[in-house]
Amino acid sequence: MIPAARGRRKPPAPLALPALADRRRRGENARCPVRLPSPEPAQSTPMATPRLKHPLDHVLDQAQRALETVFGNPPAARGNPAGDTPDVALDDAERRHAAGLMRINHVGEVCAQALYEGQAAVARDPATRDHLLEAAQEETDHLAWCADRLRELDSRPSLLNPVWYAGSYAIGALAGLRGDGWNLGFVVETERQVEAHLDEHLQTLPQADLRSRAILTTMKADEARHADNAEQAGARILPQPIPTVMAAASKLMKTVAYRL
Ligand SMILES: [Fe+2]
Ligand SMILES: [Fe+2]
Repeated sequence: MIPAARGRRKPPAPLALPALADRRRRGENARCPVRLPSPEPAQSTPMATPRLKHPLDHVLDQAQRALETVFGNPPAARGNPAGDTPDVALDDAERRHAAGLMRINHVGEVCAQALYEGQAAVARDPATRDHLLEAAQEETDHLAWCADRLRELDSRPSLLNPVWYAGSYAIGALAGLRGDGWNLGFVVETERQVEAHLDEHLQTLPQADLRSRAILTTMKADEARHADNAEQAGARILPQPIPTVMAAASKLMKTVAYRL
Protein backbone atom coordinates (compact mmCIF):
# COMPACT_ATOMS: atom_id res chain seq x y z
CA MET A 1 0.00 0.00 0.00
CA ILE A 2 1.40 3.36 -1.00
CA PRO A 3 0.74 6.17 1.34
CA ALA A 4 -1.32 8.61 -0.64
CA ALA A 5 -0.05 11.79 0.90
CA ARG A 6 3.64 10.94 1.41
CA GLY A 7 6.07 12.54 -1.10
CA ARG A 8 3.36 14.44 -2.97
CA ARG A 9 4.64 17.85 -4.04
CA LYS A 10 2.90 20.91 -2.88
CA PRO A 11 1.20 22.52 -5.92
CA PRO A 12 2.94 25.73 -7.10
CA ALA A 13 1.43 28.96 -6.00
CA PRO A 14 -0.49 30.70 -8.82
CA LEU A 15 1.36 33.52 -10.57
CA ALA A 16 0.58 36.84 -9.09
CA LEU A 17 -0.66 38.20 -12.40
CA PRO A 18 -2.18 41.36 -11.05
CA ALA A 19 1.16 42.22 -9.43
CA LEU A 20 3.09 41.45 -12.65
CA ALA A 21 0.73 43.53 -14.75
CA ASP A 22 1.09 46.30 -12.27
CA ARG A 23 4.89 46.19 -12.56
CA ARG A 24 4.69 46.29 -16.35
CA ARG A 25 2.41 49.26 -16.18
CA ARG A 26 5.06 50.97 -14.07
CA GLY A 27 7.65 50.17 -16.74
CA GLU A 28 9.54 47.34 -15.02
CA ASN A 29 10.84 44.27 -16.82
CA ALA A 30 9.38 41.10 -15.26
CA ARG A 31 12.75 39.27 -15.14
CA CYS A 32 15.01 42.25 -14.52
CA PRO A 33 13.35 44.84 -12.44
CA VAL A 34 14.88 47.78 -14.28
CA ARG A 35 12.62 50.67 -14.95
CA LEU A 36 11.93 51.07 -18.68
CA PRO A 37 10.87 54.30 -20.25
CA SER A 38 7.17 54.80 -19.82
CA PRO A 39 5.13 54.22 -22.94
CA GLU A 40 3.72 57.31 -24.58
CA PRO A 41 0.21 58.00 -23.40
CA ALA A 42 -2.33 56.82 -25.94
CA GLN A 43 -3.36 59.63 -28.27
CA SER A 44 -6.97 59.93 -29.14
CA THR A 45 -7.22 59.33 -32.91
CA PRO A 46 -9.45 61.69 -34.86
CA MET A 47 -12.20 60.12 -36.98
CA ALA A 48 -10.94 59.02 -40.41
CA THR A 49 -11.92 61.54 -43.05
CA PRO A 50 -11.65 60.89 -46.81
CA ARG A 51 -8.49 62.48 -48.20
CA LEU A 52 -9.15 65.17 -50.77
CA LYS A 53 -7.55 64.34 -54.11
CA HIS A 54 -4.64 66.54 -55.04
CA PRO A 55 -4.57 67.60 -58.73
CA LEU A 56 -1.38 65.57 -59.05
CA ASP A 57 -3.39 62.43 -58.08
CA HIS A 58 -5.62 63.01 -61.11
CA VAL A 59 -2.60 63.44 -63.37
CA LEU A 60 -1.09 60.19 -62.05
CA ASP A 61 -4.43 58.35 -62.47
CA GLN A 62 -4.66 59.52 -66.06
CA ALA A 63 -1.05 58.56 -66.76
CA GLN A 64 -1.62 55.10 -65.29
CA ARG A 65 -4.73 54.55 -67.45
CA ALA A 66 -2.83 55.68 -70.54
CA LEU A 67 0.03 53.26 -69.84
CA GLU A 68 -2.38 50.38 -69.16
CA THR A 69 -4.26 51.04 -72.41
CA VAL A 70 -1.20 51.43 -74.59
CA PHE A 71 1.26 48.94 -73.10
CA GLY A 72 -0.82 46.78 -70.77
CA ASN A 73 -3.55 44.27 -71.36
CA PRO A 74 -6.66 45.62 -69.62
CA PRO A 75 -9.07 42.73 -68.91
CA ALA A 76 -12.59 42.63 -70.36
CA ALA A 77 -15.53 42.66 -67.96
CA ARG A 78 -17.64 40.58 -70.39
CA GLY A 79 -16.78 37.32 -72.09
CA ASN A 80 -15.31 37.39 -75.59
CA PRO A 81 -18.22 37.20 -78.11
CA ALA A 82 -16.14 34.85 -80.28
CA GLY A 83 -16.52 32.29 -77.45
CA ASP A 84 -16.66 28.79 -78.96
CA THR A 85 -16.92 30.05 -82.55
CA PRO A 86 -14.63 27.79 -84.65
CA ASP A 87 -11.27 29.24 -85.69
CA VAL A 88 -11.36 28.35 -89.39
CA ALA A 89 -7.92 28.20 -91.04
CA LEU A 90 -7.19 31.22 -93.27
CA ASP A 91 -4.55 31.40 -95.99
CA ASP A 92 -1.69 33.89 -95.53
CA ALA A 93 -3.30 36.73 -97.52
CA GLU A 94 -6.61 36.34 -95.67
CA ARG A 95 -4.88 36.20 -92.29
CA ARG A 96 -2.83 39.35 -93.05
CA HIS A 97 -5.95 41.19 -94.22
CA ALA A 98 -7.99 40.14 -91.16
CA ALA A 99 -5.09 41.16 -88.89
CA GLY A 100 -4.88 44.56 -90.60
CA LEU A 101 -8.59 45.18 -90.04
CA MET A 102 -8.46 44.01 -86.43
CA ARG A 103 -5.43 46.25 -85.82
CA ILE A 104 -7.48 49.20 -87.10
CA ASN A 105 -10.28 48.24 -84.72
CA HIS A 106 -7.81 47.90 -81.84
CA VAL A 107 -6.46 51.39 -82.60
CA GLY A 108 -10.04 52.65 -82.74
CA GLU A 109 -10.58 51.35 -79.23
CA VAL A 110 -7.31 52.88 -77.98
CA CYS A 111 -8.55 56.20 -79.42
CA ALA A 112 -11.99 55.71 -77.85
CA GLN A 113 -10.42 55.19 -74.43
CA ALA A 114 -8.30 58.31 -74.84
CA LEU A 115 -11.19 60.42 -76.17
CA TYR A 116 -13.48 59.44 -73.31
CA GLU A 117 -10.76 59.95 -70.69
CA GLY A 118 -9.90 63.37 -72.13
CA GLN A 119 -13.56 64.38 -72.31
CA ALA A 120 -14.31 63.08 -68.79
CA ALA A 121 -11.29 64.95 -67.37
CA VAL A 122 -12.86 68.30 -68.29
CA ALA A 123 -16.60 67.43 -68.12
CA ARG A 124 -18.45 69.97 -65.95
CA ASP A 125 -21.48 67.89 -64.99
CA PRO A 126 -20.79 64.75 -62.88
CA ALA A 127 -23.60 62.91 -64.74
CA THR A 128 -21.84 63.58 -68.07
CA ARG A 129 -18.54 62.42 -66.58
CA ASP A 130 -20.16 59.20 -65.33
CA HIS A 131 -21.78 58.65 -68.73
CA LEU A 132 -18.37 58.96 -70.45
CA LEU A 133 -16.54 56.70 -68.00
CA GLU A 134 -19.28 54.06 -68.22
CA ALA A 135 -18.96 53.99 -72.01
CA ALA A 136 -15.16 53.82 -71.60
CA GLN A 137 -15.59 50.58 -69.61
CA GLU A 138 -17.33 48.93 -72.58
CA GLU A 139 -14.58 50.23 -74.86
CA THR A 140 -12.13 48.37 -72.58
CA ASP A 141 -14.00 45.16 -73.43
CA HIS A 142 -13.66 45.96 -77.13
CA LEU A 143 -9.96 46.69 -76.66
CA ALA A 144 -9.37 43.34 -74.93
CA TRP A 145 -11.37 41.36 -77.53
CA CYS A 146 -9.49 42.98 -80.45
CA ALA A 147 -6.16 42.28 -78.71
CA ASP A 148 -7.19 38.63 -78.23
CA ARG A 149 -8.06 38.26 -81.91
CA LEU A 150 -4.82 39.90 -83.03
CA ARG A 151 -2.89 37.31 -80.99
CA GLU A 152 -4.95 34.50 -82.53
CA LEU A 153 -4.06 35.86 -85.97
CA ASP A 154 -0.33 35.89 -85.01
CA SER A 155 -0.24 39.66 -85.27
CA ARG A 156 0.28 42.66 -82.98
CA PRO A 157 -1.28 46.02 -82.08
CA SER A 158 -0.20 49.22 -83.82
CA LEU A 159 3.32 50.43 -83.03
CA LEU A 160 1.94 53.98 -83.02
CA ASN A 161 -0.55 53.42 -80.19
CA PRO A 162 1.16 55.99 -77.88
CA VAL A 163 0.75 58.60 -80.64
CA TRP A 164 -2.91 57.67 -81.28
CA TYR A 165 -3.63 57.83 -77.56
CA ALA A 166 -1.98 61.21 -77.00
CA GLY A 167 -3.66 62.80 -80.03
CA SER A 168 -7.10 61.44 -79.14
CA TYR A 169 -6.79 62.53 -75.50
CA ALA A 170 -5.98 66.07 -76.60
CA ILE A 171 -8.92 66.12 -79.06
CA GLY A 172 -11.26 64.75 -76.35
CA ALA A 173 -10.17 67.37 -73.82
CA LEU A 174 -10.56 70.18 -76.39
CA ALA A 175 -14.07 68.97 -77.31
CA GLY A 176 -14.95 68.72 -73.63
CA LEU A 177 -13.85 72.28 -72.92
CA ARG A 178 -16.59 73.54 -75.25
CA GLY A 179 -19.21 72.31 -72.75
CA ASP A 180 -21.14 69.15 -71.99
CA GLY A 181 -23.57 69.41 -74.95
CA TRP A 182 -20.58 69.51 -77.31
CA ASN A 183 -18.90 66.77 -75.34
CA LEU A 184 -21.85 64.43 -75.87
CA GLY A 185 -22.24 65.57 -79.48
CA PHE A 186 -18.66 64.50 -80.06
CA VAL A 187 -19.49 61.07 -78.60
CA VAL A 188 -22.45 60.69 -80.98
CA GLU A 189 -20.40 61.65 -84.05
CA THR A 190 -17.49 59.37 -83.06
CA GLU A 191 -19.73 56.39 -82.35
CA ARG A 192 -21.72 56.79 -85.59
CA GLN A 193 -18.49 56.92 -87.61
CA VAL A 194 -17.12 53.85 -85.79
CA GLU A 195 -20.40 52.02 -86.41
CA ALA A 196 -20.09 52.79 -90.13
CA HIS A 197 -16.52 51.54 -90.37
CA LEU A 198 -17.38 48.35 -88.46
CA ASP A 199 -20.08 47.74 -91.06
CA GLU A 200 -17.48 48.18 -93.79
CA HIS A 201 -15.11 45.75 -92.02
CA LEU A 202 -17.87 43.14 -91.67
CA GLN A 203 -18.26 43.29 -95.45
CA THR A 204 -14.55 43.07 -96.26
CA LEU A 205 -13.39 40.51 -93.66
CA PRO A 206 -12.62 37.06 -95.12
CA GLN A 207 -15.87 35.05 -95.12
CA ALA A 208 -14.23 32.29 -93.08
CA ASP A 209 -13.09 34.60 -90.28
CA LEU A 210 -16.06 33.85 -88.05
CA ARG A 211 -14.30 34.78 -84.80
CA SER A 212 -13.49 38.35 -85.92
CA ARG A 213 -17.06 38.66 -87.22
CA ALA A 214 -18.55 37.66 -83.87
CA ILE A 215 -16.44 40.31 -82.09
CA LEU A 216 -17.22 43.10 -84.57
CA THR A 217 -20.96 42.34 -84.55
CA THR A 218 -21.13 42.79 -80.76
CA MET A 219 -18.96 45.92 -80.91
CA LYS A 220 -21.21 47.46 -83.56
CA ALA A 221 -24.29 46.97 -81.37
CA ASP A 222 -22.45 48.51 -78.38
CA GLU A 223 -21.28 51.55 -80.39
CA ALA A 224 -24.84 52.19 -81.63
CA ARG A 225 -26.08 52.09 -78.02
CA HIS A 226 -23.32 54.49 -76.91
CA ALA A 227 -24.46 56.97 -79.57
CA ASP A 228 -28.15 56.57 -78.64
CA ASN A 229 -27.39 57.08 -74.93
CA ALA A 230 -25.37 60.22 -75.64
CA GLU A 231 -28.20 61.60 -77.80
CA GLN A 232 -30.69 60.99 -75.00
CA ALA A 233 -28.32 62.62 -72.48
CA GLY A 234 -28.52 65.93 -74.39
CA ALA A 235 -25.91 65.82 -77.15
CA ARG A 236 -25.92 68.69 -79.59
CA ILE A 237 -25.33 68.18 -83.30
CA LEU A 238 -21.79 69.13 -84.27
CA PRO A 239 -21.64 71.72 -87.06
CA GLN A 240 -19.55 71.35 -90.18
CA PRO A 241 -16.63 71.11 -90.77
CA ILE A 242 -16.12 69.15 -87.52
CA PRO A 243 -17.69 65.83 -88.70
CA THR A 244 -15.79 66.07 -92.03
CA VAL A 245 -12.47 66.74 -90.26
CA MET A 246 -13.14 63.83 -87.90
CA ALA A 247 -13.88 61.52 -90.84
CA ALA A 248 -10.64 62.62 -92.58
CA ALA A 249 -8.60 61.99 -89.40
CA SER A 250 -10.22 58.57 -89.05
CA LYS A 251 -9.38 57.69 -92.67
CA LEU A 252 -5.73 58.62 -92.11
CA MET A 253 -5.62 56.53 -88.94
CA LYS A 254 -7.15 53.51 -90.74
CA THR A 255 -4.67 53.74 -93.64
CA VAL A 256 -1.64 53.85 -91.32
CA ALA A 257 -2.89 51.36 -88.71
CA TYR A 258 -3.65 48.69 -91.35
CA ARG A 259 0.11 48.39 -91.95
CA LEU A 260 1.73 49.81 -88.80
FE1 LIG B 1 -15.66 50.50 -79.02
FE1 LIG C 1 -18.26 53.14 -78.25
